[in-house]
Amino acid sequence: MEKSLVKRENWGSRIGFIMAAAGSAVGLGNIWRFPYLLGENGGAAFLLIYLAFVVFIGVSIMIAEFAVGRKSSRAAVGAYKSHSQNWTFAGVLGVLSAFFIMGFYPVVGGWSAAYVAKSFTGLLSNPEAIGDVFGGFITGSTQPLVWMLIFMLFNVVIVAKGIAGGIEKAGKILMPVLFGLLVLIAVRSLTLPGAAAGLSYMFKPDFSAVTGQTFLAALGQAFFSLSLGMGCMITYGSYLNKKEDLVSNATLVTGMDLGVALLAGIAMFPAIFAFGMEPAVGPGLVFVVIPSVFAAMGGIGMLLSIIFFVALTVAALTSSVSLMEVAVAYFIDERGMERKKAVYSVSSAMAVLCVLSSLSMGAMSGVTVFGVGFFDFFDILTDKIFLAIGGLLLAIFVGWFLDKEELKQELTNGGTVKFALFEAWYTLIKYVIPVAIAIVAVAGIRSIAQ
Ligand code: PHE
Repeated sequence: MEKSLVKRENWGSRIGFIMAAAGSAVGLGNIWRFPYLLGENGGAAFLLIYLAFVVFIGVSIMIAEFAVGRKSSRAAVGAYKSHSQNWTFAGVLGVLSAFFIMGFYPVVGGWSAAYVAKSFTGLLSNPEAIGDVFGGFITGSTQPLVWMLIFMLFNVVIVAKGIAGGIEKAGKILMPVLFGLLVLIAVRSLTLPGAAAGLSYMFKPDFSAVTGQTFLAALGQAFFSLSLGMGCMITYGSYLNKKEDLVSNATLVTGMDLGVALLAGIAMFPAIFAFGMEPAVGPGLVFVVIPSVFAAMGGIGMLLSIIFFVALTVAALTSSVSLMEVAVAYFIDERGMERKKAVYSVSSAMAVLCVLSSLSMGAMSGVTVFGVGFFDFFDILTDKIFLAIGGLLLAIFVGWFLDKEELKQELTNGGTVKFALFEAWYTLIKYVIPVAIAIVAVAGIRSIAQ
């Protein structure tokens, strides 16, 4: 069938779009990664830098991605290509990022799903062993692979159903559930004796540990957490109808993402401090410290642990479907592939990368790329390099190659909605953001090299 004869899919409703976009943004980045980055980078100082990046770079890039997507009605690659063939590479970089992020993300999604089951089967009954259980589990060669495949299968089912039927419906139901669960856990955590130390760790900055790397980590986290710099929000924007207010949607989605990250921190740090545990343990934070904290709470702990890991799995799922959709949309839009076929091929390739990632924790730990295992390689490559470059390219594309007046028309729906800060946004995108990203990237890479 001719591509142009097929009516393009659209979101079913405004709330559906917001839930899906927020579902993409809110994920492992907020609940698994943000707290451990905070713990590793000295708490409040990292938080402040992160906040600045989200407010001055994140929102603006999200607005720009929505505009580019809706204006072109094309996913990542097509949106760039419809302007000029010379820009195709920027979209392709985004599709590559989707493949590489999906080369480790479902592994962690699988861990999370496994921890729902483990919470039922006595994980908390032996608190001293929780750390060893995690180490033993992720270094194994069968269990983590099985859980990864289960997680991947959920993605396949949702993405194969398409935009309104699958992704949108899942987001609409699952996102509010997640939010409610986190509030519940935060309340429990805050009412523990000694909780205040955790709050002051999160909110009282100590700048002595801040280096160029801290800035790069915060920038990478802002892109990762907001799903920016790889065409995801371009793709979601491309399914958006012409009446939606892009600016207010972007602001709302960013606010929700930030809110959930803060909530995840507030759910974890007070409890970590109340129980005298270590905040800077890295990626194991969620899987080791949190079950330990729950174990120390007695009877209600098991229930909270189950709820927590269900929430984490749900959050991961609504994000990973958006990552898969970027790659799938490329094959549908640019290669004329049928949706189901695109989903099967894309997910198989991703599963292969995930097998490498998962095994790099154990059986294949000796195999390294640039000195790190596959898991870390895919993570560092996307978060510290590809997403920042993707964001830089997008800002240059929008600021220097698109017509200012047309952008204004797109962002105000032809003058029918207000965007009072248009000039400020445009200046940020055109001058400030490209320079800021370049400086942070250079400083970060230099301090890693030292
Ligand atoms: N934002 C998601 C998270 O925080 C991850 C993601 C990155 C999703 C890039 C889509 C695109 O977990």
